[in-house]
Amino acid sequence: MNPVTVGLLGLGTVGGGTFNVLNRNAAEIVRRAGRGIQITHAAAREYDPERLPGIESITVSSDAFAVVDDPAVDIVVELIGGYEPARELVLKAIANGKHVVTANKALIALHGNEIFAAAQDKGVMVAFEAAVAGGIPIIKAIREGLAANQIEWLTGIINGTGNFILTEMRDKGRDFDDVLKEAQKLGYAEADPTFDIEGIDAAHKLTILASIAFGIPLQFDKVYTEGIGHITREDVAYAEQFGYRIKHLGFTRRAADGIELRVHPTLIPERRLIANVDGVMNAVLVKADAVGPTLYYGAGAGSEPTASAVVADIIDVVRTLTADPENRVPHLAFQPQALSDVPILAMDDVETAYYLRLLATDKPGVLSDVTRILGDAGISIEAILQKEPAAGAAEVPIIMLTHTVRERQMNAAIGQIESLGSIHGAVTRIRLEHLDCD
Ligand code: HSE
Repeated sequence: MNPVTVGLLGLGTVGGGTFNVLNRNAAEIVRRAGRGIQITHAAAREYDPERLPGIESITVSSDAFAVVDDPAVDIVVELIGGYEPARELVLKAIANGKHVVTANKALIALHGNEIFAAAQDKGVMVAFEAAVAGGIPIIKAIREGLAANQIEWLTGIINGTGNFILTEMRDKGRDFDDVLKEAQKLGYAEADPTFDIEGIDAAHKLTILASIAFGIPLQFDKVYTEGIGHITREDVAYAEQFGYRIKHLGFTRRAADGIELRVHPTLIPERRLIANVDGVMNAVLVKADAVGPTLYYGAGAGSEPTASAVVADIIDVVRTLTADPENRVPHLAFQPQALSDVPILAMDDVETAYYLRLLATDKPGVLSDVTRILGDAGISIEAILQKEPAAGAAEVPIIMLTHTVRERQMNAAIGQIESLGSIHGAVTRIRLEHLDCD
């Protein structure tokens, strides 16, 4: 049988990794896929032939549309990233009847509904394992391995750059910018690193995870997104005193009235395994009704870890080439006509616990004013810590952990606390999740 032919869009970090892994492991891959897989055509404006042994034996075009329109290519692998021209290229590949593999989380999160509908019409596959958590096979795990379950919630450390920065700041007291530069040099950070820091990259990935977990359309515009730029070393240290770590989490839960979909820094108990996922590593914790909690851990970025997921998708496509389109695994795990319109909750309606840090005048009655406001709002305090004032300072930091409350109530209480004359500046609020797995 002839080998299946692949056209590669991009020969950068992930494209180069894909080229090398496919070539290096070709013999083993044939045994798994049942067919040879050959990259015949790639597109790249520039590339380093030293890093790509064998590249001289294939066609390399500077125009990506030449690959998409190449009649000899069966599967197009999109590793350019970004929204455009990736969207146009993928839609063109589908229109040309080609299967698509992509690592592009931004593309799937924003344009996945349109892309999957086009693929459905054409009877072609679009595989996107590498779009979430790099080398961790989390899409396959949720879509296929957990298919018997109702997923209750899931949470993930799904941006390696942010986790690397928080870890280095905590362990080595390093400067934010200095760590970010290192992450960029190592090829972890996005082309625009604010996507990492502000949580946009994690929101792209969470959008995809929520869809396949709950069978809902992709709704990136409904994700609440908060970055890590305001987290101080003091917050990290106070959290540790209470037995918590601060992680930048993507979190989605099926609540009574709708689905929570949020990315923000979060305190989590340090005894949870996921709290100990450090550096550039990613992890996703899924709580499902039949299996209980399951945790998936691995490299979330980098050349060959991401290539591992890309190549696995190519092998999957090759294996299913002979299956009728209606018998394939659905793109978003649920049959397209069975997607649910359950609403995504506004952040005001989300329920969570909180870490609060405020700076108060050091005089009698201040603490009771604060606790009265919280008490009147029905917010129960779980723990409280007041530090002695720094030498010569008239203000003291007060740190509190609260029980779970609706965000709307907490916002109102924070507003009242900030309006007290004895409270200085804004109240720092970091959400807290216990991640109970019982
Ligand atoms: N910038 C991403 C990260 C790369 O740091 O996790 C993988 O999506």
